[in-house]
Amino acid sequence: MNRRLKLGVLGSGKGSNFKAIMERIIDGKLPAEVRLVISDVPDSGILSYARDFQVPALFVNPGKYRTRLETEVEHDIARLLQEAGAELVVLAGFMRVIKEPLLKAFPKSIINIHPSLLPKYKGLEAWKQALEAGEKVTGCTVHYVEAAVDAGHILGQREVAIQPDDTPASLHARIQEAEHDLLPEVVRQIADGRP
Ligand code: GAR
Repeated sequence: MNRRLKLGVLGSGKGSNFKAIMERIIDGKLPAEVRLVISDVPDSGILSYARDFQVPALFVNPGKYRTRLETEVEHDIARLLQEAGAELVVLAGFMRVIKEPLLKAFPKSIINIHPSLLPKYKGLEAWKQALEAGEKVTGCTVHYVEAAVDAGHILGQREVAIQPDDTPASLHARIQEAEHDLLPEVVRQIADGRP
C-alpha cells in the first residue's frame, strides 16, 4: 500500500463525512490517516466521532465573527495542523469561510465538500436552494478551496435526482449518501496521485 496521506479535518456539524473517511481507512481502501480533527463547535458530532475513532480532536474557539475565524485563531489552527503533520486539509462540513492564514499555510492542499453541483447553488443550505429552484437534479461537489467561496477547481461531483415528493431533509439525506462515497474517493485519488 502507498505511504499514508496525512489528513487534518475541520468540521462544524454531525461529522458523517469524517465518519465515511474513517470507515474507508479502516476498511483498508484509503491509504490515509487522520492526524487531527478540529471543530469550531464544542458539542459537535464530528468531535464525538473523533473520540470514538480515537483520533486527536480539538475544539477551537472561533472568536467573535459568525462566518469566519478570527485571524489569530486561523493562524493557530494552521499551526496546529502543521504540527500534526497534515499534508491535506479536508473541510468536512466546516461552516466558516477560509481566509489567508490557512490558504497560505496549505497552498492547493485544502479541499471542501459542498452539497450542490457547483457552480450552481453556492453558500448555505444548497440542497434547499436547488429544491426551491425546481431543479430535477442536484448533487455534491468536492473542490480545492481558494479565496473565492465555493469556487475552487472541481475535483469530483456526484449527481442526485430530485424526486417530486422530496423535502429539504429527504433530499439532503440522499445528497449526504453521495457525499460519503465522493469525498473518500477524491482523497484516495489525491493520495494515489502523489509523486
Ligand atoms: C454536508 O452536507 C456538507 O456538504 C455541508 O455540510 C454538511 C456536513 O455534514 N457543507 C456545506 O454546506 C459547506 N458549505 P456532516 O457534518 O454530516 O459531514
